[in-house]
Order: sequence, then structure tokens, then C-alpha cells
Amino acid sequence: MSEPVILGIESTCDETAAAVVRGKTLLSNVVASSMDEHARYGGVIPEIASRAHAESFVPVVSQALADAHMELSDVDAIAVSAGPGLAGCLAVGVSGAKSLAYAANKPIYGINHVIGHVAVTQLQFGQVPANTLALIVSGGHTSVLRVNNIATDVSVVGTTLDDAAGECFDKVARLLGFPYPGGPHIDRHARQGNPHALRVPQGLTQGKAAAEHPYDFSFSGVKTAVARWIESETAQGHAINVDDVCAALADSVATVLSKKTMAAAAHLDSQTVIVGGGFSANSQLRTALIKAGQEHGVEVRVPELRLCTDNGAMVAMLGSNLVEAGVKPSRPDFSIDSSMSLGRICMD
Ligand code: KG4
Ligand code: ZN
Repeated sequence: MSEPVILGIESTCDETAAAVVRGKTLLSNVVASSMDEHARYGGVIPEIASRAHAESFVPVVSQALADAHMELSDVDAIAVSAGPGLAGCLAVGVSGAKSLAYAANKPIYGINHVIGHVAVTQLQFGQVPANTLALIVSGGHTSVLRVNNIATDVSVVGTTLDDAAGECFDKVARLLGFPYPGGPHIDRHARQGNPHALRVPQGLTQGKAAAEHPYDFSFSGVKTAVARWIESETAQGHAINVDDVCAALADSVATVLSKKTMAAAAHLDSQTVIVGGGFSANSQLRTALIKAGQEHGVEVRVPELRLCTDNGAMVAMLGSNLVEAGVKPSRPDFSIDSSMSLGRICMD
């Protein structure tokens, strides 16, 4: 077969997205976001997001096909995010994708959205080498994965025991009065602050906890320490230096993430580290990882910002990997899995 054409569909959270790839070449990429509808509630409201997917599904998919100068019949396979994500949102995307697959008699792959964040980096850096480590950082996930073969062999090396890094940023941002999502605001203020103005803990990096959880993360202590500090400063009548709070938080999180990822790379003898997920847009993390990579002689692949956020290209690229590797499509009755394990690449 010449290079397969894959239609990728994404609806795990607040983006309805579709993209077409031929082999590893991106032909189109369309994203509609319902972010603005959630901002005033301070977080994504699943019911509103699901409704937005139902409205945007057909327009977004048709636009992705039109931009690629294709019809559904030109596609060799359809890939859709089956999880992890919001159940109602996943149900809209998966039902839509199944209908298209059924109507056009195409194979369908229910793929893991998180592994899609790794797959999309191939657009910028080429194929994922064997024994690569992936640091996945998003609003809902903070995990280190060993990607031995992106289509067939992914395992979890470490994960957060409580909050994800993005979640921790969003919670502190709320305390500081920033609108949702707060991560980018913290990033911006952190650039002007002094990271040593207050002490925040670096979870699971010392003593017994570090020995028991060498590659796991914990960010709830960071959030609590920052909240206590703000409380106590306010009680004493001191003005809060927002830049300093942001800088201390960002420094702690970026340091822990890069240290633990490099420790895992050394332990597993990985030569390549890929970072993915919405939080990989964070400038303090990007700087820390690049520096740590240089120190450890590890190639660190930090994707362009436009590849960090949720999109259809990530789904289509993983679909392309699966077709290329000869992996069997998912069964027509595959289900969504809102808490899909990160070691699972595709639904049976
Ligand atoms: O992967 P993503 O788009 O959505 C999920 O699937 O969770 O990640 C969104 C998360 C949010 O928590 C947001 O605050 C955070 O990524 N984020 C950032 C930055 N840009 C996005 N956090 C810190 N600094 C940023 N520049
Ligand atoms: Zn994501």
C-alpha cells in the first residue's frame, strides 16, 4: 500500500478537532474550542463541552477533509481518541467516528489520547526512537512513559500520586485571582519573579519517599505550601508579590519534573526524552528540560507550542503508526474508556 491516509478525530475535553495525514505528512488540521464557554465557571463543564462537540463534529470533520482536498472515501482508516478524557465528550467523538467508519466501510482505531501527544512530535522531529522516554504533562496527567515502540510497546515508569502539574498551577492561579486556565498566567508572571522569595517543597525528592517513588510525582504539597504562605502573609498585612509566588511555584515544578525525568532516562539508558501535553508549553519547564538534557547528554524533544495543545493531528499520527505497524483495528463495538491506562495504545 502507498502511504496510508488517516483521518484523526479528537474530543477528549474542550477541543473538537480533526486532521488528515498521509503517512507522516500533515495535510490538514482543524480545531474548534469551547474554552471561552467554560472560562466564567473556572473550569471545563463536561455537559457544555459535550454539547459543543455535538455541534462542531460535522463542520470540523468536513473542513479537515476539504482542506486536505479529500472525501471520506479517500481515507484508508479513521482514528479517534477513545480515552482518557471526559466520558460525555469521548462518547460524542467516538460515536461520530464509528458512524463515519460504518457508512464508508473503513477500519477504525480507538486510540489513547495521551500517547497521541507523543506521536504528534514526529511532525517536527521524525520517528520516535526505540527506548524513548516521554514526559506527559497536561491538565489531567503527569507521567513518565517508556515508549519502546509507539504502536506496540508503551509502559508507565512513573506518575503523579495526587495532582497533575497543570492542575496544581490552575489551583494556585485561582488563589491568585487569575482566570481559567491559570497555567499561562503563572508562566508569564514567573518570568519576572524571584523563585527563592519563598520556600516551596519539591515533592518526593528526598529521603524515604524519594527512594520509594524515584520516578513518581506529588504536587499537592506545593499547592498547599503556596496557599499557606499567601494566607500567613495576608494575615500579617503584607502585600503578596504575585511574581515571586509564581516564580517559586514554577521553579519547584520544573525542577522536579526535569530531575526525575533525567533520573529515569539514566536508569533506563534512554537517549531521547519527548515532552508532550498542554503543560509542555510552560516556559520554565522547557528551559529546565533543555538544560538538564545538555547536562546528561540526552536529546530532549520539546515540541513547538502549536503541537502541545490538543488537536486532531496527534490522533491521526498515532493512527498512522498503528496502520504502518499492521496493528489490527478496534472492534466495531469498542467502548470509550475515560480512565484509559497509559500503557494501552489502542482499544481492541
Ligand atoms: O493537555 P491540555 O491542553 O489539556 C488536558 O488534556 O488536560 O493541558 C492543559 C493544561 C492546563 O492545566 C493549563 O493551565 C496548562 O496545561 N498550561 C500551562 C501553560 N499552557 C497551558 N501551564 C503552565 N504554563 C503554560 N504556559
Ligand atoms: Zn491533551
